[in-house]
Amino acid sequence: MRDRSMDRAIARLQDRLRPDQMSVHLAERLVYGYDATWAEGLPDVVVHAESTADVAWVLRIANELEVPVIPRGGGTGLAGGAVPIGGGICLNLARMNRILEIDPADGVAIVQPGVITYALQKAVEAYGLFYPPDPASLYMSTIGGNVATNAGGPRCLKYGVTRDYVLGLEVVIPGGDVLRLGGRVMKDVSSYDLKHLFIGSEGTLGVITEVTVRLLPRPPTLGALAVAFDRLESACEAIVAILSAGVLPLMAELMDQGVMRAVEAFHPYGLPVEAEALLLLAADGEEEAVRIDLTRMIQQVQAFGGRVVRIATDTESANDLWEPRRQASPAIARLAPYKLSEDITVPRSQIPQMVRHIQRISQETGVPVVLYGHIGDGNLHPTLLCSRQDPEEMSRVAQAALQIFHTALELGGVLSGEHGIGVLKLDLILQAFPPTIIEKLRAIKFLFDPKNIMNPGKKLPPV
Ligand code: LAC
Ligand code: ZN
Repeated sequence: MRDRSMDRAIARLQDRLRPDQMSVHLAERLVYGYDATWAEGLPDVVVHAESTADVAWVLRIANELEVPVIPRGGGTGLAGGAVPIGGGICLNLARMNRILEIDPADGVAIVQPGVITYALQKAVEAYGLFYPPDPASLYMSTIGGNVATNAGGPRCLKYGVTRDYVLGLEVVIPGGDVLRLGGRVMKDVSSYDLKHLFIGSEGTLGVITEVTVRLLPRPPTLGALAVAFDRLESACEAIVAILSAGVLPLMAELMDQGVMRAVEAFHPYGLPVEAEALLLLAADGEEEAVRIDLTRMIQQVQAFGGRVVRIATDTESANDLWEPRRQASPAIARLAPYKLSEDITVPRSQIPQMVRHIQRISQETGVPVVLYGHIGDGNLHPTLLCSRQDPEEMSRVAQAALQIFHTALELGGVLSGEHGIGVLKLDLILQAFPPTIIEKLRAIKFLFDPKNIMNPGKKLPPV
């Protein structure tokens, strides 16, 4: 049941928005109640913003009447961040999907938040330029969502995460003020770095309405390797050895046997499913440099018993070699009625330890876990499989997730490397940070959003 302030908010929103910019019927609203997790909710209304002015209007009304606003991009999040758990206004930014400018001279692109990540990558490639961050959901995820979650991806091993490519932001804060933060320059130390507060803030401080990203020259060649290992542990040791030997791969990803089998069942790529683990490696740059890097990686993996099952020395075949990796998450989703995709990150020297602990935790709790992830930067996605029908099973799943998280912390790692906290990891936050830090985080939230209208109940536990 909607409360009265929500009814008033909907009436006020109509003063400025066209009827086709607002979805009020249940059938339309239902589809905005989900992301890529099992979290669910139902917005009271969905607003399809078409401009910064529309967003400012929504944030003015919502602030006045104190109703929640849940910003939404592609809905591919893995922590429930865009799920309207307590109702409110779902602010859909998908219609703000224009690339406003690509400027090779400054090496920047200016885009609206609803631009699909892959569309931006393709558009800048036409200018010989390169936008590196590549979350696995890049065919569906949006730049606004990428910035709001500080998205990662395989290429972040060499090139860094979304944050490293955001030069400027336009954001709207509760009340409707429009802030322009940063700009199109590489260096800027002229104030406190407000821009970076919004990157990874998961829609809890304001709404991103424009993004200026930094672009690099496009590397001419991509090369790749697929390496099978009879022992998962050897694959983990091999990657530590590669990185310690002074080779920085473009990407270094792990899939265990369970993930390979899931991907093969989803789409047959010819993965070596009899092996315990697959390491996918890639290098980019000038042809000669790529050749040298691949050779050095081959030497290292062979020293750990790795068998090179495929080599790709041109961009197209390297992309093909990597395609199975992008299918990991959807393929695993078919293994069980539900999955919980964890996202811990440990210092890379601790990768073999972390993987051993994950296997132990899975055995001790009896929760099936398949493992894949960005092994080169220590960001792993142990994925817990479950049915969610039996409370006893779910308490073991919660136990396993908690133990994985505690182990990561003990090894010097963090709770989430790229998916964020959203609602699914909320209760771990108080264990991850001491009270003094929680207090400062809450003070930042209060500074921008004193009435707690922005994506309430996400990222930070309520006081
Ligand atoms: C991936 C997502 C789950 O790496 O982060 O596939
Ligand atoms: Zn990932």
